[in-house]
Amino acid sequence: MLKKEYSEHNYNSISEDYSDRNSRKYNFTRICVILATAIIVAVCLFKFVNHFRIANEEESVIIAESNILSKNSLYDYNDTCAVVSDDFKFDCFPRGKSDQQSCEERNCCWAPTGNDSDSLVPWCYYPTNYNNYKVVNITQSRNGLIAYFNLSSETTYKENIKLLCMDVSYHTAQRLRIKIYDAENTRYEPPYPEIPAVHLNNSKINEPLVSDYGIVVAENQLGFAVVRKIDNVTLFDSRNVGGFIYSDQFIQISALLPTKYIYGIGEQRANLMLDMNWKIHTLFNHDSPPTDNVNGYGAHPFYLMMEKSGKSHGVFLFNSNAMDVVLQPAPAITFRTIGGILDFYYFMGPTPADVIAQYTEAIGRPYLPPYWSLGFHLCRFGQTLNQVIEVHNRTINAGIPWDTHWNDIDYMKNRNDFTLSDNFSGLPGYVEYLHKIGMHHVVILDPGVSSREPKGTYPPYDDGLKQGIFIKNATGLPLEGQVWNKDGGTVFPDFTNPKTVSYWIDQVSKYHQVVAFDGLWIDMNEPSNFVNGDWQGCIFNNSDHWENPQYVPAIEGGVLNYKTICMSAKQHSGLHYDLHNLYGFSEAITTQFALSIITSMRPLVISRSSFAGLGHFTGHWTGDVYSTWDDLKQSITDIVVFNMFGIPLVGADICGFNGNTTVELCSRWSQLGAFYPFSRNHNSDDCFDQDPVALGALVVNSARKALTIRYSLLPYLYSLFWKAQIDGETVARPLFFEYPSDENTYNIDTQFLWGPALLISPVLKENQEEVQIYLPNDTWYDYYSKIAIKSNGSTYTVAAPLDTIPLSIRGGYILPTQDPSTTTTLSRKNPFGLLIAPNVSGEAYGYLFWDDGKSLNVWENGMYNEIHFKYQSSTITAEVVTSNYLDERLVLQNITVFGIQANPTSVIVNGNAYQNFLYNKTEQALYFQTLNLDLFTVFNITWT
Ligand code: GLC
Repeated sequence: MLKKEYSEHNYNSISEDYSDRNSRKYNFTRICVILATAIIVAVCLFKFVNHFRIANEEESVIIAESNILSKNSLYDYNDTCAVVSDDFKFDCFPRGKSDQQSCEERNCCWAPTGNDSDSLVPWCYYPTNYNNYKVVNITQSRNGLIAYFNLSSETTYKENIKLLCMDVSYHTAQRLRIKIYDAENTRYEPPYPEIPAVHLNNSKINEPLVSDYGIVVAENQLGFAVVRKIDNVTLFDSRNVGGFIYSDQFIQISALLPTKYIYGIGEQRANLMLDMNWKIHTLFNHDSPPTDNVNGYGAHPFYLMMEKSGKSHGVFLFNSNAMDVVLQPAPAITFRTIGGILDFYYFMGPTPADVIAQYTEAIGRPYLPPYWSLGFHLCRFGQTLNQVIEVHNRTINAGIPWDTHWNDIDYMKNRNDFTLSDNFSGLPGYVEYLHKIGMHHVVILDPGVSSREPKGTYPPYDDGLKQGIFIKNATGLPLEGQVWNKDGGTVFPDFTNPKTVSYWIDQVSKYHQVVAFDGLWIDMNEPSNFVNGDWQGCIFNNSDHWENPQYVPAIEGGVLNYKTICMSAKQHSGLHYDLHNLYGFSEAITTQFALSIITSMRPLVISRSSFAGLGHFTGHWTGDVYSTWDDLKQSITDIVVFNMFGIPLVGADICGFNGNTTVELCSRWSQLGAFYPFSRNHNSDDCFDQDPVALGALVVNSARKALTIRYSLLPYLYSLFWKAQIDGETVARPLFFEYPSDENTYNIDTQFLWGPALLISPVLKENQEEVQIYLPNDTWYDYYSKIAIKSNGSTYTVAAPLDTIPLSIRGGYILPTQDPSTTTTLSRKNPFGLLIAPNVSGEAYGYLFWDDGKSLNVWENGMYNEIHFKYQSSTITAEVVTSNYLDERLVLQNITVFGIQANPTSVIVNGNAYQNFLYNKTEQALYFQTLNLDLFTVFNITWT
């Protein structure tokens, strides 16, 4: 079969404003339909532009002219089936039991391998020339190309789309979009996140958009390859693999990938580097403790891939329907979704960090959390107010740094949102007290509203009913399921309905007048439901179409409405069938907005359910993990993967949620948890207490020690969140993000970094007092002993006493610190410090971002300070880049410089001799402890 590679693309740049996605979508569909009609009526007018030559033009024309759907005859087995080796077999009978006859009815190849139960290789697979769409036209568009494909043979999937439009557009030099959709009928597309199409700055408006990508389109079938031009690496190749299907409720595309180094595709409990051995990742938001092979709370159809050269790229399928993503050893990927359209975004990298920056540029940069939310959080399910207060007192007495006390559903009357149980009538007073001592309070809020309280007694239901904002079942009445509410009925606000915004603001605001919480914890928002679908079932018109479509992805429970609401339920923006994976996201957007309006402060919202783009609004915790060593280890992968998903504010329940913890596990978990970007100890209602003091001296020591380090490093952590917000950097990242050319790092899931410079290497097994840590080729300093290791990329054994977590600082970096206190309110008043870790050339660099930690839009309003620090030739200098936040005096008091070989003879600070320094020979560290420098003013410290 002939294929043509399109050589040079001199695309016109794009000057229009693409912000109005909907009108664009509408116009675009219209244009496509008009074009398509024109194509069919006047085939002879086809004129392919020079850039997109098709060798066999005649053939395409003939197909378009005839426009007849013919059933393919069986392929020649030897030519098209026998040639396919096992790893390259793409499943033609997914999630179904096939035999030779049913397989061949699909025009597929039948070849049993091994016995049924142990072989993961599909027995029924696509022949190499499986092809049910033919090219009818390819034309150049202003920033890419548009191709049309005609259905040439029906598949066994119902309602195959007859005419497809493939729109290839270069958004930026590193971002390519390939959108394949029904050219004649509008199909569902997710309403958010809104992806801005183009970011060309004005000066470039009239220049051609030069892209790093090349596109190869298969000549007479629907297949394409995305190629990186500079090194000619094919990143995604869907040609000749078979299995392209585009029917109403089954859309499938497969592609060969360049390597097996693939990350992302969640939320699912999985290894950091995903398993390519016929692994199915099912994306359908679901309330289940994180378990292998069970669809998780969130949906992120995004992957990042490392290539052999150390370069990296990313792929996002912007589709919110239930889907399976299959990885197979070829290596290859298959996306199989049951609705929407295919809307791919390719991100060229070339570093993994670039890929994530490009991805979050599309889906929305992470939001900057309030400073206090980076402190430690304490929570548990199953507590009386007295117990809450007991925990408060013992934690304060133990001197454990701590900022926020949380309340679970125990505070509610009948477990209903926006109510206060009589047993918790003292809660408002307690929250007032927390505020007085500089602490904060977060309450849980479930989306479901109780529907069976006596009429007129529960305004959240009565108001919502009046305003018509609850999700409706197919008969138009509010769909009623059941979540925690004791009265046995729950209805679900439809957060895609604009009216729900004022409803939610109203309810949250009234409750805020009762309990002055600082943040909201939005749980159960997959949405979770304890009955399947609706109390009445989902037995409405056409119910099978939505509840039980021809193909159901590999979800837990086997039916789409298992432990959630009916797929046929109606929402303002469409059917729940399409919007399910966006439910939590829509609640998160509304809740974030409501809290910002109510408090006029930067809110903390933590959501369990997520979708691509959630990080722009809230953080996430990883749900009901078990108190096991396995879950402790898994949390590292989860945290770095959510950073790749653009949600850096993420943490697992410290010491585990389900099941009783042990002292040693909780001690190690308190150490690791102190380095989660979002650090919260939370526990289930049927377990014994696991707040640090409840478990005794070891856990207290571990928590206090690790959290004290955390609090001292908060200026560094906060600056990383700022970088995430403005540049799309990750906060917690795996080692390969910093060392993409060191293949040893690709699968390290036992260590991770804060930013580029702090390496965290926790103990993850029982009975261990040392750990094996990998140090990539660089200079590293042990955080505690200050001793340098000049590694050439080796594994080292380091001591990890029972109450200590191994930490290393990477040479070349300066970390801003602040003397720790027991709350961030207090620590923010303390003097700053710097940890300076020189690289082999004796240089280091760092920066500090600082603002009031709580106002909205500080970046947009410029109300912050940005200070850069440099260390070179025994000289430390500061550059004040921005200094608009002048409410507090920032004093730099302490500096520690690692790796200093000899005691300086003289030190000059801003031109004056300075005596008050200390040199520690064993540590090879130089200390300044009473500098008293103003951080708003440039300074210079030098020594000989
Ligand atoms: C869910 C949450 C858990 C919470 C519980 C009760 O299981 O994941 O964190 O404690 O509900 O609200």
